[in-house]
Amino acid sequence: MIIWGGTAARAVGISLAAVAAVLSALLICYWLPLDSVLERSFSVHKAHSVKDMENIFQLVRNVIPPLTTKKHKGQDGRIGIVGGCQEYTGAPYFAAISALKLGADLSHVFCTKDAAPVIKSYSPELIVHPVLDSPHTDEEVAKWLPRLHTIVIGPGLGRNDTLLENAKGIIEKSKVRGIPVVIDADGLWLIAQQPSLIQGYQRAILTPNYMEFSRLYETMFRTSVDSNDNHRCVLRLSQALGNLTVVQKGEKDIISDGEKVLVCSHEGSSRRCGGQGDLLSGSLGVLAHWAFLAGPEKTNGQNPFLVAAFGACSLTRQCNNQAFQKYGRSMTTTDMVAEVGMAFSKLFET
Ligand SMILES: *[C@@H]1O[C@H](CO)[C@@H](O)[C@H](O)[C@H]1NC(C)=O
Ligand SMILES: *[C@@H]1O[C@H](CO)[C@@H](O)[C@H](O)[C@H]1NC(C)=O
Repeated sequence: MIIWGGTAARAVGISLAAVAAVLSALLICYWLPLDSVLERSFSVHKAHSVKDMENIFQLVRNVIPPLTTKKHKGQDGRIGIVGGCQEYTGAPYFAAISALKLGADLSHVFCTKDAAPVIKSYSPELIVHPVLDSPHTDEEVAKWLPRLHTIVIGPGLGRNDTLLENAKGIIEKSKVRGIPVVIDADGLWLIAQQPSLIQGYQRAILTPNYMEFSRLYETMFRTSVDSNDNHRCVLRLSQALGNLTVVQKGEKDIISDGEKVLVCSHEGSSRRCGGQGDLLSGSLGVLAHWAFLAGPEKTNGQNPFLVAAFGACSLTRQCNNQAFQKYGRSMTTTDMVAEVGMAFSKLFET
């Protein structure tokens, strides 16, 4: 894991690459406020120590609600997943079940009528609302929104205009209520068509893969991504969207809130399976709620969504790593989901 103030990656190119290699080998992290990097763009601040990597994990640990017998059902998170249509039923299932396995109390799925029985049949643990293609989606979802802590928009949403329009309505209503929103997959396609829908809403977290990231970047800047300066591109996209949190998924996950850039290179495996992103978005839904609730006091003044994103990325990678050790090439997302509990305790409860 490397944490660094985002800009000037090219300026510090060679030394950074060398330092980064040593640092990641030692699993050392470093934080830099952006300003200091701008001021001193030709040097990389000296790494503090192994303590700093430990620190970011510690910040994640700080926001995890303790398990006590005093709470009632729902207090540790009621997460809503918006997605699931005729073609795609796996994605919303993976996101919703991952949220539950991470420790959310309830996971709701808002999907189309024909996707609902399929998703229900995967799991009796999910609450499934067949409302996404209803003429009354707005009212149906509005009934539930006040009870939800985070909304995850996009897993299995597809690109049907009616569904995208309904997803848009849900984003707008969530904004009015100040509910944190995670946007993934075709939710990001919607944002690329209409960035103003989310621009300036700092409780949003976008989780694009490289393709989705490039599309968003081209929409905002009318130029393509500079793949030699990915950190800076992630930082710039976040700023252009009004400093909401952007998680660029890839070989390393690059996370920015417009001020800081954080790199998660926790060891996963060389195998990436379809659905892994849904595990990330679902668990991020829960962590975003916990971090938001805990606030900057518990995250040492750092943006809670940045901490949540780092937590979800490292957890997803840990699940990948554990499942790969068991199943190798035949690993699937179902195997990864089965590892959530163990991966979580390994990373955050030791
Ligand atoms: C989109 O979904 C709506 C509602 O389910 C349906 O009526 C319509 O035919 C779909 N459009 C396309 C192009 O598939
Ligand atoms: C975003 O963050 C940068 C860096 O901290 C700051 O200069 C800028 O004013 C912020 N923009 C918004 C819209 O908050």
